[in-house]
Amino acid sequence: MLRICSLSDLTEDEGFRVESVTPPVAVFLTADHDVHVIDDTCTHQNASLAEGWVEDGCVECPLHTSRFSLTTGEADSPPAKLPVRVHRSEVVDGEVFVELSTATPNLPPGAVF
Ligand code: FES
Repeated sequence: MLRICSLSDLTEDEGFRVESVTPPVAVFLTADHDVHVIDDTCTHQNASLAEGWVEDGCVECPLHTSRFSLTTGEADSPPAKLPVRVHRSEVVDGEVFVELSTATPNLPPGAVF
């Protein structure tokens, strides 16, 4: 597994963008102290989900408000239709590790990293 950040980098119910992997991922610490890691880029257009609103286990895209489940990656309503990838994560001694999904990311048209 790959270390991507420290638990202390995270703020409850806010996203943290990690650019050391390609494409970037967004890490979330939810109110129930779970850590979730998903692809950071919305599948509709080039928006950072780390800047989205977190509520009820979902993050709302800051651009057009489709909501993505932090657990499944599925989008709940248009305009986004495709899911973001979800990456398996683990916290060990205050450090966040991730096993990146091997699935092909659903990047929006024109996204370049
Ligand atoms: S860019 Fe995310 S819903 Fe449009």
